[in-house]
Amino acid sequence: MLLRLAVWLILALVVSRVGLIIYGLGYHKTIYKHYPGPCRVVPGVETGSEDIAVTSNGLALISSGVRVKGFAIHPARTPPILKGKIFLFDFNHPEKNLVEVPLKGSIDAASFYPHGLSLYEDPKTGEKRLFVVNHHLSDQDRVEIFRFDEKSTSLHHLKTVTGETMYSLNDVVAVGPETFYFTNDLYYVTKFAKYYEVLAGLSFGTVGFYDGQDRIVADGFKMSNGINKSPDGRYVYVAAALDEKLTVFERKDDGSLEEIQRIDVCSGLDNIEVDKKSGDLWLGCHPVSHMFMEHTENFTKPAGSQVLRVQLESKSAPYARVDIREVLMDDGSLVSGSSVASYYDNKLLVGTVFDKLAYCEIKAI
Ligand SMILES: *[C@@H]1O[C@H](CO)[C@@H](O)[C@H](O)[C@H]1NC(C)=O
Repeated sequence: MLLRLAVWLILALVVSRVGLIIYGLGYHKTIYKHYPGPCRVVPGVETGSEDIAVTSNGLALISSGVRVKGFAIHPARTPPILKGKIFLFDFNHPEKNLVEVPLKGSIDAASFYPHGLSLYEDPKTGEKRLFVVNHHLSDQDRVEIFRFDEKSTSLHHLKTVTGETMYSLNDVVAVGPETFYFTNDLYYVTKFAKYYEVLAGLSFGTVGFYDGQDRIVADGFKMSNGINKSPDGRYVYVAAALDEKLTVFERKDDGSLEEIQRIDVCSGLDNIEVDKKSGDLWLGCHPVSHMFMEHTENFTKPAGSQVLRVQLESKSAPYARVDIREVLMDDGSLVSGSSVASYYDNKLLVGTVFDKLAYCEIKAI
């Protein structure tokens, strides 16, 4: 009797898990295209524009060449064919397109594979620093800190940060000249275990903090991905791609985070950009998971792209009302696999994990 009950229970669990996986792949979803205004592909980037960080005067720094470890990836999207680069796009002169930003100082450009980015502008000196997650070619994940020299358009390496709690880095948000939060998207690092973690629906993603020492300050995410902060620095936002939720945390003086609210986004959200003027959140999302997975294995197959704007009701959380608006939806005919949407003055850049970069003028939302 007990044995039979146990067998039925296990069977029910397996069936519900498989059902959730199939539902999560999104075969029932359809993409209807719409753009907020005229959009075009920005020439010069073909192998990804995963994350974007914008200075207060409209200079966008873009990471290209994310090295994905542990999942099935198209050979042309892996080293040595894949190169890690940082590009610059000036929102004030969109017609100028991209320039590659040279890396200066003690950094090996051949081993540099950037992923998440964050800009820190010193309120006193005006110095701009770029924090970059680097999936180093032959060593552990790390965060590189650069000084961004606007005049010569170059990045000067200042510091490399590694730590025991920095094992599967995805994104970073700077909160001081050498202080930052970071996400570890998954707990496992080997191929088989990563697939197991995703398919079994385990919530092992974490958020960490570094202020001279690294430590985990939040956990329980299904693939914690993008991380960013409110313009006043009081809140930290974390995207959990497989939870399809955005978590709002309040920062405490000791660096710990207190969870305030979870916002249902109902799409595979990747990076979060924050409009410094309005405080609006801009999300790059993967609306149809199976398309993105097929694109990952073979980038010639298109994947959906989706941009959401999240307006928060007030400057302090929890928010009684949250307005989520879809600004762009594309079936891959413009760009495939959007991971980030960066807004500046009625203009929009849409970056992707493995594909091109798009620029749109915003005429109506
Ligand atoms: C990618 O897909 C195309 C057709 O969609 C096919 O011709 C090509 O061989 C595939 N490449 C790989 C590496 O699977």
